[in-house]
Amino acid sequence: MTEKIIIDTDPGIDDTLAIFYALESKELEVVGITSVFGNVHVDLATQNALRLLEIAGHGDIPVAQGAEKPLDTAYIGPIPHIHGEDGQGNIFLPPPAGKAVDQNAAEFIVSQVSAHPGEISLVPIGPLTNIALALQLRPQIAHEVKRVVLMGGAALVPGNTNPAAEANIYGDPEAADIVFSAGWDITMVGLDVTHKVLMSQKQIDKFANSQKATAQHINKILPFSMAFASIALGKPELYLHDSIAIAYMLHPSLFEVQQYPLKVATRGIGRGKTWVWTQTMDFPPEKFNFDTKHPATVVLNADSDTVINNMLDRLL
Ligand code: BDR
Ligand code: CA
Repeated sequence: MTEKIIIDTDPGIDDTLAIFYALESKELEVVGITSVFGNVHVDLATQNALRLLEIAGHGDIPVAQGAEKPLDTAYIGPIPHIHGEDGQGNIFLPPPAGKAVDQNAAEFIVSQVSAHPGEISLVPIGPLTNIALALQLRPQIAHEVKRVVLMGGAALVPGNTNPAAEANIYGDPEAADIVFSAGWDITMVGLDVTHKVLMSQKQIDKFANSQKATAQHINKILPFSMAFASIALGKPELYLHDSIAIAYMLHPSLFEVQQYPLKVATRGIGRGKTWVWTQTMDFPPEKFNFDTKHPATVVLNADSDTVINNMLDRLL
């Protein structure tokens, strides 16, 4: 059966791969894309979502613009050294033909989910502000959403924005706290696994030989990411972050997961950290108010080669 999804995104180079990968997968039906600030300002995120759908021949899929800043704090700003000034590796595409729908992202999520209870899954691959706003608008969506599979967080490994926090959670820790406390079926595809699934330069070079418009677009934008990533990693390889959330939805048997009670830190040096309680810890979960009734599924490891090969099969 096809799983209906709404991708909530700040495109973003790795977001682009995730969107194209989902569109190429018949197991998933993308019923809409919602934009959020993050890698770029939200206006540009919206424009990019529209552009990407048009490149993929899916200009009919609705895009709803979302939050321009976190719930309680200011937006810390885009990261052009990782994603380019345009969020697409500085290739500066022409404007999209289409425009966003009149509803904002939270309204769009609420209207879609409440019209199809139990059928729609949310796939946030940016800061979690829109999802928190949707929960505030209609708390019942916690029971109406099929599941949430998000890219973000770092449970048993260091962060990538600071020693504690991963970028999407750090982007709006208060929103992440609301989302992880909602009591729904939630899976965290964070740095525990995304730092273990890398694409090599040799694999990236394959996009140049594909005739697909989406692959040609990927071929134009990945070199920018590669330039940054290979310096950070010290080898010509690339983290794929957001598309690993899609890979997990498509091929769960290729991944190792654990259920953990999970809390998001909103204060101090650990702001944005996704803390988990594990059985090996020498204190009870109640001591720090971990909710053991609603653990999160945390993805920890993957059969990396098979994940990458499956992804390339669809994207090339
Ligand atoms: C996350 O941060 C963003 O820069 C990426 O698009 C991804 O969603 C990785 O930490
Ligand atoms: Ca992203």
